Amino acid sequence: MRELQGRIAAVTGAASGIGRALAVEFAAQGMHVAIADVDTAGLAGTADAVRAHGGRALAVPTDVRDAAAVERFAEAVVTEFGAVHVVCNNAGVSRMGLSWEIPLEDWEWVLDVAFWGVVHGVRSFVPRLLAHGEPGHLVNTSSVGGLAQVPYIAPYTAAKHAVVGLTRSLRAELTGTPVGVSLLCPGPVVSNMDPNTPRPGEVEQLADGPAALARHAREAHPQGMPAEHVARMTVTAVREEQFYVLPNLADFLPALESDFKAQLSAPTR
Ligand SMILES: NC(=O)c1ccc[n+]([C@@H]2O[C@H](COP(=O)([O-])OP(=O)(O)OC[C@H]3O[C@@H](n4cnc5c(N)ncnc54)[C@H](O)[C@@H]3O)[C@@H](O)[C@H]2O)c1
Repeated sequence: MRELQGRIAAVTGAASGIGRALAVEFAAQGMHVAIADVDTAGLAGTADAVRAHGGRALAVPTDVRDAAAVERFAEAVVTEFGAVHVVCNNAGVSRMGLSWEIPLEDWEWVLDVAFWGVVHGVRSFVPRLLAHGEPGHLVNTSSVGGLAQVPYIAPYTAAKHAVVGLTRSLRAELTGTPVGVSLLCPGPVVSNMDPNTPRPGEVEQLADGPAALARHAREAHPQGMPAEHVARMTVTAVREEQFYVLPNLADFLPALESDFKAQLSAPTR
């Protein structure tokens, strides 16, 4: 999708980190941006940043776990702007622990946000991307955890592997349409992402609340790539129809390669 100027982008998980950087980068490319998140204060900050780059911003508080809420977000985008051209299903959370000890409600929360949130985005937005017949693009955020073996965050890796599978299916299903697809699998990125994301209500219980959350996240990803760099790589992928977007993945490539070789050399009968 070469032409972004004046087109419409929609981004979930846009109050912070990679989602905010995507929204701002799309605005810098001349797009208008609709943003969704559960963090309404963060959404307002992202909306301000989009407007500072000259774009129109529509902020819609949305919990991506709720299919009806995502449908309302998609409808609001088209009502406000008339169409949608680029959609980023980006919201994600994580919980840590041993796979067999992680409480069921943590498993469900992570899968609900990081996998079902993407399914809801696909179901509500792909028909609207196809409806106008103009070029469009869908970006689903997975992770290195969707491609590689990462212990102690099994709900996250399960959700992210599922996003990889879903997005590969979509690539095949959308071949021959004007809608391109990208799979964003970052390695470590500087953001508020915490491998043990506090659940709703828990942030307030941390000694110094949101500041502690940001500190934990920085400690988790001291060598992370700036989110703005990830956003620029993603915009390039949208423009040039690249499927895989793998920021900061170099450290994981030997592990991915040896795992792939093991698959290819496994007995098949
Ligand atoms: N930071 C990294 O190192 C890294 C690496 C690989 C992949 N990712 C992925 O990138 C995406 C963005 O994460 P980030 O690093 O910017 O983290 P972040 O914590 O800064 O941003 C995630 C955003 O998702 C929002 N969110 C959480 N639950 C939601 C819900 N139910 N509905 C709507 N929004 C919700 C949060 O409020 C937050 O604004 C995630 O899918 C994450 O898994 C991050």
